[in-house]
Order: sequence, then structure tokens, then C-alpha cells
Amino acid sequence: MTLRLGDTAPNFRIATTTGDIDFHEWAGDSWVFFFSHPADFTPVCTTEMGRTAQLGDQFTARNVKPLGLSTDSVEEHLKWIEDVNDTQNTTLRFPIVADKDHAIAGLYEMIHPGESETAAVRSVYIIDPTKRIRLMMTYPMSVGRNFTEILRVIDALQLGDKHKVAMPADWKPGDKVIIPPSVSNEKAKDLFPQGWEELRPYLRLTEV
Ligand code: BEZ
Repeated sequence: MTLRLGDTAPNFRIATTTGDIDFHEWAGDSWVFFFSHPADFTPVCTTEMGRTAQLGDQFTARNVKPLGLSTDSVEEHLKWIEDVNDTQNTTLRFPIVADKDHAIAGLYEMIHPGESETAAVRSVYIIDPTKRIRLMMTYPMSVGRNFTEILRVIDALQLGDKHKVAMPADWKPGDKVIIPPSVSNEKAKDLFPQGWEELRPYLRLTEV
């Protein structure tokens, strides 16, 4: 099965570092940042796990639960977390899925045989509270992810849902947003009484 944007994120039951979870139940009414790693006790992964832990308050402020995945056991994950905490100067509290048999990595297409038959690549899934997949990104094993971008895209998705707007290139919170072409000027007067700047009939910028 190929996963696409808008699909329901497949459910699963699995052991994690904070106990067994049913994914959908665990996610509840939160957004989820689900991200995979090639293996425990590897350098790039250690920095990414640490960064996620350091940003715990930022994820909570956005109603986002991080969920890591690596293809090792709970015991190995727990030992690794000690290293993450020590070297990255943090306390990792979110769960890490123990996907030793690659069941979840397979379900979420995190194994790319051209890279490795056994280790997951660096996949990111942002999943909304209705369990729909809203963003998918894949990074190679050699490049750590950009967490500023991960928080930015969560902000953009949440703002888009709230105000029915789209975000321009390199948008960041506070910047102007785009009124989608599907919204007529008539309707835009109701939705955006603050007005807008019309660069082209299809390119209208407003502030929300
Ligand atoms: C790392 O996390 O450092 C890593 C893992 C697998 C391959 C290369 C780097």
C-alpha cells in the first residue's frame, strides 16, 4: 500500500519506551510528529532525538505529540536514551517505537531497499487529530532533519486549517498569507474583513 497525503495514517499496536500503545488511541486529539531513524547508538539520530526532546515545550504548545521509531528493541532504546540525555543535555520523554521486525517501518514505507534492507530512512509524517496524513518528508541517513522547518510546517498547517489560507514560499509565523483562488472576492470580503493586497487576481495577500 502506498501512503499519500490525505490518507488515514494506518493504525498499529506496538511496544515503545513508555509502554505498549495503540497508535490512534495514543494520538487522541493531538497532532503527531512521527519520525523514523536508521538505528540506535548512531550519531545523527542521537542529535535528532535530542533536538526533539529539547523542543518538547514547542511541540506541546502546538498540541503535537512526537513519536520516534527505530528498528531496535525497547531495551536498546532505553540504554540509548541515556546517551541522548547525556550528550544532548536534555531529558527525552516522548515514546520511541521498538520496531525490531520492521512491521511499522514497512507499513509506513520507511525502508528504502536502495539505501538499506534493514534500517529505516529518516521519514517524517505529520498527522492531524482526525488521523489524516498532512505532510510526508524523507531525508537520507546522512542528513539530520531541520527542526525549524518541522515546527514551521506544523504552524502553517494549523494556521491554514484555522483561517482557510495558504502559505507562500519561506512563510514564517507573522508573515502575510495567501487567500486561495477557490475563495471568490465576494466571499473573501466576509472571511478577511481586514482586506487584502491583490498582486494578481489569483495572488491575494492578507494578514491573519
Ligand atoms: C546516524 O544516525 O548517524 C546514521 C545512521 C545510519 C547511517 C548513517 C548515519
